[in-house]
Amino acid sequence: MKHVKAGVLGWPVDHSRSPALHGYWLKTYGIDGSYLRLPVPPESLGQALGELHEKGFAGVNLTVPHKETAVSFLHGVTAEARQIGAVNTIFISADGKLLGTNTDGYGFISSLTTSAPAWRPDAGPVVVLGAGGASRAVCFALINAGVREVRLINRTVARAEALTMAFGPRVIPLPWEKIRDALNDATLLVNTTTLGMQSQPPLDIDLSPLPPSAVVNDIVYVPLETPLLAAARRRGNTVVDGIGMLLYQAQPGFAGWFGIRPEVTPALRAHVLAA
Ligand code: ATR
Repeated sequence: MKHVKAGVLGWPVDHSRSPALHGYWLKTYGIDGSYLRLPVPPESLGQALGELHEKGFAGVNLTVPHKETAVSFLHGVTAEARQIGAVNTIFISADGKLLGTNTDGYGFISSLTTSAPAWRPDAGPVVVLGAGGASRAVCFALINAGVREVRLINRTVARAEALTMAFGPRVIPLPWEKIRDALNDATLLVNTTTLGMQSQPPLDIDLSPLPPSAVVNDIVYVPLETPLLAAARRRGNTVVDGIGMLLYQAQPGFAGWFGIRPEVTPALRAHVLAA
């Protein structure tokens, strides 16, 4: 078996946790492979992607700022990537064809259903805060899991409306002022905004209308326990932190490149958090 290579393309890419994540799995499963940081500025993306096959890469992950712009350099994209409007994982075939997909929705729903197994997609409305790139993956996953109503709250309502255009009338765009009513009978609250992230303003919402049985999932993972999750935990809601989405989104890529479906374990989680 020849040495298999994968990596992450970004600009900058030094803060990515993906090398720690995939490196842990390579070691755990004793695979002759490597996962590299590949700093690529936007103007070099096409060239960098075009050279991957001859350099022995089985595929790559994409991160900021390449996730939305890579499509034009690929031979094909999956329905997930097309609907989410971004590519985070590329598989390269034996004859050098690049196929782009998006595993962020898979990562989100896997993390949620593993950490909150009692939550049911069809049990009631879900509230999602934010309408950026991360929200597109979350909404895609929720709709595909069978959620009938996603109340999508965003500061800029036009961005929320764009997600209704993409995913249909199950996604209901709402302004921030409607949050109290929206939380009232929700089964799940998801934060996809950057609020609450280290060096960003806090996400300041009153959780009192939210039923105690609802799940609260913050996809922010720096810090791991955001003020939102701390407040939700204090009032007895089941909470799901953001690191699980990162760990699970990596599974399909690793499986495709290295041929082993890797496990998400507490030891992996600790390793990536310490990286
Ligand atoms: P990502 O790709 O990580 O989702 P993004 O596309 O920049 O990042 O989206 C950031 C999200 O956080 C958006 O929903 C943004 O709201 P707007 O669409 O109105 O910009 C939200 N956000 C960021 N800062 C915010 C703030 N101070 N108040 C409210 N929402 C904020």
